[in-house]
Amino acid sequence: MEKIRRIGVLTSGGDSPGMNAAVRAVVRTAVNSGIECIGIRRGWQGLILSDFVKLSSESVGHTLSRGGTILFTARSEDFMTEKGREKAVATCKMLGLQGIVAIGGDGTFRGALALSKMGIPVVGVPATIDNDIGCTNYTIGFDTACNTAIECIDKLRDTMQSHERCSVVEVMGRNAGFLALYVGISVGATAVLVPEKPVDFQKDVVERIQDSRLAGNTHFMIVVAEGAGSAVDIGRKINESLGMEPRVTVLGHIQRGGSPNARDRETATRMGYYAVRAFAEGRGNCIIGTKEGSIVEIPIEEALAMKKSLQMDRYKIMEAMQVGRADL
Ligand code: F6P
Repeated sequence: MEKIRRIGVLTSGGDSPGMNAAVRAVVRTAVNSGIECIGIRRGWQGLILSDFVKLSSESVGHTLSRGGTILFTARSEDFMTEKGREKAVATCKMLGLQGIVAIGGDGTFRGALALSKMGIPVVGVPATIDNDIGCTNYTIGFDTACNTAIECIDKLRDTMQSHERCSVVEVMGRNAGFLALYVGISVGATAVLVPEKPVDFQKDVVERIQDSRLAGNTHFMIVVAEGAGSAVDIGRKINESLGMEPRVTVLGHIQRGGSPNARDRETATRMGYYAVRAFAEGRGNCIIGTKEGSIVEIPIEEALAMKKSLQMDRYKIMEAMQVGRADL
């Protein structure tokens, strides 16, 4: 690879807390390595439309603690077409971009692979609250999103306890149950439903509430991953089976906002740094990941083929914390 003098950076797909910290790390590492950095706004769509902004070390000041993304984000349908990607390549040539750091999730990385096959080197930085990227133990934003959900559920518990009610809370995660399981363990849920484990409503919900009631509890907390079903449906079925009137809460996009916590700021800063160092040292077309706490680089194609499964030992641990269970 020729010596890199100018790169682009973009955020794409659903935003997550810590994306700004990653952008800041990319810009400052680039500038301090003698590489110019151009921000591409609105993800891959911005590359098609040549929507860019010059970034300096100063321009990313005071962004480390901010949620969202200062570069805006989008899910670009145009980029999925050959014509759209040709326009993106033309923008890279016009702006003299020798590489792109793409911050986002699996959709972002599929775009990265397509662009890299057209001759533009890309380095990916995983950022999604779903933590569902196979090639990395951790994705930027997951921990903050867990904490946001926990804070909301702790508040819900107060009122559920006062009124002796059952609460059904739906958390995000797309097709993965990481967020639901980590949150479920952390709030001491009565039951947690995840897409990775087929739901047996009688066993996984009805009997859990009954066990808890027999152990003396009068309020119940059911956490449902959006990929495992709708909280509204679960609430209706609880009503039909047990005659209770559960209150349903869909936490939704509140989980995507907020100031990133220490883990997300620190991880984003390390990942952003190593993304630029990969370019500076003549490497590209890889995803930056974490493995047992350390940073690793995985070739994009290989990274996209990697699968990550929910740690079922954690599911067992969650079950072992439930009162009144005698069937572990
Ligand atoms: O991938 C992040 C995520 O928040 C998922 O958890 C959720 O399913 C999806 O994005 C929601 O997407 P949108 O912001 O387009 O509604």
